[in-house]
Amino acid sequence: MSQTPANPACAIECRQITKTFGSVVANDKIDLDVRYGEILALLGENGSGKTTLMNMLSGIYHPDSGSISIAGQPVSINSPVDAMHLGIGMIHQHFKLVDAFTAMDNIVLGTHGKRLAPKVLKERILEICHSVGLEIDPEKRVYEMSVSEKQTVEILKVLYRDAKILILDEPTAVLTPQETGKLFAILRRMREQGRAIIIITHKLQEVLEISDRVTILWKGKSIDTVNTAETNARQLTELMVGRPVSLSIQRPQPQDPQPVMDVQGLTVKKPDGAIALDGISFDIRSGEILGIAGVAGSGQKELCETIAGLTKSEKGHITFKGEEILGKTPAEIISLGIHMGFVPEDRLGMGLVASMGMVDNMLLKSYRSHKGMFIDRKPARALAEELIRRLEIVTPGEDTPVRLLSGGNVQKVLIGREIESGPSVLITAYPVRGLDINSSYTVYDLLNEQKQKGVAVVFVGEDLDVLLELCDRILVLCHGRITGLVDASSVTKEQIGLMMTGSHSGEVQQ
Ligand SMILES: Nc1ncnc2c1ncn2[C@@H]1O[C@H](COP(=O)(O)OP(=O)(O)OP(=O)(O)O)[C@@H](O)[C@H]1O
Ligand SMILES: [Mg+2]
Repeated sequence: MSQTPANPACAIECRQITKTFGSVVANDKIDLDVRYGEILALLGENGSGKTTLMNMLSGIYHPDSGSISIAGQPVSINSPVDAMHLGIGMIHQHFKLVDAFTAMDNIVLGTHGKRLAPKVLKERILEICHSVGLEIDPEKRVYEMSVSEKQTVEILKVLYRDAKILILDEPTAVLTPQETGKLFAILRRMREQGRAIIIITHKLQEVLEISDRVTILWKGKSIDTVNTAETNARQLTELMVGRPVSLSIQRPQPQDPQPVMDVQGLTVKKPDGAIALDGISFDIRSGEILGIAGVAGSGQKELCETIAGLTKSEKGHITFKGEEILGKTPAEIISLGIHMGFVPEDRLGMGLVASMGMVDNMLLKSYRSHKGMFIDRKPARALAEELIRRLEIVTPGEDTPVRLLSGGNVQKVLIGREIESGPSVLITAYPVRGLDINSSYTVYDLLNEQKQKGVAVVFVGEDLDVLLELCDRILVLCHGRITGLVDASSVTKEQIGLMMTGSHSGEVQQ
């Protein structure tokens, strides 16, 4: 334990914090200091203990040992209410809002004391918004909101409680680059107001852009804290991974690509009747990676969902090896070998059963092809073991319920299962969201491996550098139309950017 008295200028001082879950040491004697008026980034691989540490500051877990001081006073944080009284507010990786309630109702939910009259409450909320630059309609219901609006409600929830210390766990994982820019402007305003901010993000350029200092966790230990101005992406990666890593993506030459899927004149409407896809035509070829670029909401989601048989189309055709797939059920489409590796906003909401272990989740995917009366768990267990080894999944075992794995590790299970199921067409949307750098590169390698096996890979992405390095062709969507279909090796980031806004049309090559 530290002998030096706690420093009142320090918003938070953690000393020698340890937390174990059974045999897993999630936090191992961690030291962490955060000052008022600074943004501290917390960096570390998937499963390195970031969320666990933050959950102790927000009263969800209690440390096994170690001490925490807030503004120089030793404290014991036994519940989220304690944390709130100490001025600590956390915006979680998975939002905790009530869908049927309005923004306003969600913001006051759980606060004690006299409820303000709706008019006064609304004014108070708008006042807070104005002070930091947030925008929200207080009367909008959560189920009608975009992800970034939901995040705004979460931030307002903690500001309404006058939090002086804000913790944001991977707030940018689900935001577009534009939304991230807005969020960062808001965080800077909060820093100017003297608040202490801890942000978790796997994107190194974000760490370098927004933080004043960076604390790096490695396998549950705090191994270093550096000034952001004095570091760079390479040094941070080495500290985080514990060894030098190569940050370049391979692009093997496509081997004799042949069209396997043909999309012709596809028109799809959104639930509200607006056009999501407006008569688009292109093909997907074996042995190559087709990138799909576009600002969020340009039709990417509807395209993936229509191919998967989850959304109906208005007009057009999608054929796979000459056979029409529109009108088929999702199960029929999967049985043709067309697999989706969506990474949804809520990772546990899509395709994985949180209370089951990896083996049972593997079985879920393969049970349709199962014929006999008894289920043979051996292949599923072997597959789970293989994924744990290849993707370096941090888990006590293949039967541990997936809800107990860290966010990034849940995602590795999700994507690994799709890749290993031997598809002919593999459609992945945002597969590296929430993954640490090392795991992101492992996923790129896996996609390349699929391509070399002759699989037709579609990669819906948001990072233009990655799209340009990894893909063979890039299709650009803007307002549901194709504004470019280009060779990735001969196009620039700026050109793609212009196509994404519809102000420049790329060569549409067939
Ligand atoms: N309630 C729990 N029960 C058992 N193990 C847990 C529990 N919560 C976390 N763990 C384990 O503790 C370790 C640290 O997890 P944590 O969620 O803190 O990682 P993280 O750094 O936030 O990772 P990510 O970047 O993937 O979100 C992991 O091995 C995780 O499986
Ligand atoms: Mg986490």
